[in-house]
Amino acid sequence: MNFDQFLTGELERIQSAGLRRSQRVINSPQGPEVSCDGRLVANFASNDYLGLAAHPNLRDAAREALDEAGVGTGASRLICGTHSHHKRLEEALARFKRTEAALSFSSGYAAALGTIPALAGKGDVIVLDKLCHACLVDGARLAGASIRVFPHNGLEKLESHLRWAVQTFPDARVLVLIESVYSMDGDRAPLREIVELKERFGAWLLVDEAHGIGVVGKQGRGLVDELRLSNRIEAQMGTLGKAFGSSGAYICGSAALHDYLTNRARSFIFSTAPPPHCAAASRAAVRLLESAEGEALVARLHENITLLASRLSAPAQSAIFPVVIGGEESAVKASQKLLEQGFLVPAIRYPTVARGSARLRVTVTAAHHHGDIERLASSLASLRE
Ligand SMILES: Cc1ncc(COP(=O)(O)O)c(C=O)c1O
Repeated sequence: MNFDQFLTGELERIQSAGLRRSQRVINSPQGPEVSCDGRLVANFASNDYLGLAAHPNLRDAAREALDEAGVGTGASRLICGTHSHHKRLEEALARFKRTEAALSFSSGYAAALGTIPALAGKGDVIVLDKLCHACLVDGARLAGASIRVFPHNGLEKLESHLRWAVQTFPDARVLVLIESVYSMDGDRAPLREIVELKERFGAWLLVDEAHGIGVVGKQGRGLVDELRLSNRIEAQMGTLGKAFGSSGAYICGSAALHDYLTNRARSFIFSTAPPPHCAAASRAAVRLLESAEGEALVARLHENITLLASRLSAPAQSAIFPVVIGGEESAVKASQKLLEQGFLVPAIRYPTVARGSARLRVTVTAAHHHGDIERLASSLASLRE
């Protein structure tokens, strides 16, 4: 087949399904307002939940590390790419998460793709929530294990999958994958119940806290910590590009897990180490979260979540508020209309969410002013009229 014809044909199909995507270019730092296509708009699209992406502490830490360590790492972590900034970040993350150890990765996607196939493989079983992020799904596929999916937060089906797995494959490893806060729905997993179930069946659990870390709990230590479940969960994952304002991700748990992944997580082993200044910025974010200023930022975020939840008559479970529209094109139109009114709110469509459940994904941060939130709520209300 002719290559260009193939590409054009596929793009036309994507377009006619209302699913064509393009990149929006921002010309300012992240913040409650961003410069988008030459115009300042209120930013309700970002996962920079604590407003740290442009925080002076992170900028200073990154700048100092740049001066000290340069830009690139030259090789993978196991060759000569591990800088002391990576180790200091990992120590800080382990302390913050109250686990024995943490291992950092270049992104959440890489963490999932490296960790999941290291923990389960052919002949094993992976059981995951229907709404798990694409990186968890792809990690499960790459693992080559038998995959079973349970309806979102559906404990009964999870239990029946676990029963099936241990009866059918008595010697297999069984790995459950969930998020603590779901990225496109903003709701939380029934974590305590899931921990109890996986323990009953001798399964292992990986919890992705990408949208829980920095958000849940008084110091933003995440849902696992909030429920004091840390020592009952095999692997905790989190990203550094959302509430931590930087870039990268981590897996934390036991010292043995750290050493094992250092030897078996292919995305860790076979990829150039992330730049030291990103590690330094992430560490500055961890230190900030441990300080009184961090606690105040988390409190401010919680205040803003409560305000938006009350205006949208939605539960205040996280910083993510889905406004489900349904049709793909209608969601895009709604997003465009909001942009005309000065609000950046993305339309989320298939394959990120199920077909016919396209939505506006509103995210609130500690940096928003109450007035911004009130104005957005009125615009959203007028969209529905
Ligand atoms: C739940 C979840 N996990 C993992 C990721 C991937 O993290 P990263 O952007 O660092 O690759 C994302 C989104 O980016 C996410 O929403």
